[in-house]
Amino acid sequence: MNLLLKNIKQLVGITDNSEAIKKGKAQGEVKILDNAYMVIRHDLIESFGPMSDCPELSMDSHDCSGRLVLPMYVDSHTHLVFAESRSGEMNQRLHGKSYQEIAEAGGGILNSASKLHTMSEQQLYDDALARLESAIKQGTGAIEIKSGYGLTIEDEMKMLRVIRVLKQTSPIPIKSTFLGAHALPAEFKKKKGAYMYLVTEEMLPRIAGEGLADYIDIFCETGYFDLDDLKQVIEAGDKHGLKAKVHVNQFSTFGAVKMASEMGALSVDHLEVMNDGDYTALANSNTIATGLPLCSLFLDIPYTPGRQLIDKNIPLAIASDFNPGSAPSSNLNLAFGLACSQMNLTPEEAFNALTYNASFAMEGQHEVGSIQVGKKANLIITKPANGLEDIPYWFGESMIGSVIV
Ligand code: NIG
Ligand code: FE
Repeated sequence: MNLLLKNIKQLVGITDNSEAIKKGKAQGEVKILDNAYMVIRHDLIESFGPMSDCPELSMDSHDCSGRLVLPMYVDSHTHLVFAESRSGEMNQRLHGKSYQEIAEAGGGILNSASKLHTMSEQQLYDDALARLESAIKQGTGAIEIKSGYGLTIEDEMKMLRVIRVLKQTSPIPIKSTFLGAHALPAEFKKKKGAYMYLVTEEMLPRIAGEGLADYIDIFCETGYFDLDDLKQVIEAGDKHGLKAKVHVNQFSTFGAVKMASEMGALSVDHLEVMNDGDYTALANSNTIATGLPLCSLFLDIPYTPGRQLIDKNIPLAIASDFNPGSAPSSNLNLAFGLACSQMNLTPEEAFNALTYNASFAMEGQHEVGSIQVGKKANLIITKPANGLEDIPYWFGESMIGSVIV
């Protein structure tokens, strides 16, 4: 697509290069150009500048008077491929059962896995595509998608093949993550070692061999997988060239952040429960902290302490965690609102967490995540707005006028 955007009230999130993630004070720095133009050629940002320098071009143009133009959000943590809703489990929770109790009774991830097992690959794809299209309309311009509702070789590969077809057909960049160690299947109860062998020595070599995954993940949590499993998964990932992006500290803290960051994980995600050692470990590493405020809202658990992370000079990304159990929403506009009202981030810090920093958390920083010449013109054009703060201010609403992909 070729298009000239004119009279942009504010062009938000400009960068010169994408060499370094934003942390500490820089997390709150957003470069803005008032009254700007942008030239999009062959789907890429070709140039931008003040309206006074706007070139005369024979291409379609679009007037953005009163509106902001921003890079689309980058959703660096989702479980967008799944079989069905688990709204029944929400009812159970509203009748007093906890997320963990439901899981222990065979609900939760195992519930999703048994539903996925009987679903055709085509149906899984069709449903996932509809969810992806909805996410794009809400402003998501790049996305990471995990497996983890298969838990057998066949079904994990089925999920990853669905993600591969989405990659081939989607208008936005997609990264895929192998999450075989998401929950222990019932038939492996008391045989966790055997399941870990299956994940690392049988599933992973086949998946990596077919190029079906970009990253590896594990749900490291009390009642799920422990530090030994975490080590095993990260080492196995290393052996096959897959960096780790891991679920840690959702309900408890027992050293997973330290181990993952010391072992070079790209990101540690969730972090609702943190202790001093966790902060120290992250501050001394290159690992990106990822908060998932939609999960906190839905499960009514603590929010990732975003304010503290930023104050401790740790780079923060924010993603949706879109999944049928703990976050049935891909709405990053709402996540933006929660980041400000519940995690005490400034609009600028939250914006960087959802765009620029999140692009690093899925290694997409050279094509998405900011307004930069040569990057993809995946853009949000807002409704008429005063400034960036209008997005978190109108929380639960949408300030998106349209998106360009
Ligand atoms: O990120 N915590 C582990 N995995 C997902 C939820 C999985 C589910 O409940 O289906 C999460 O919250
Ligand atoms: Fe998750």
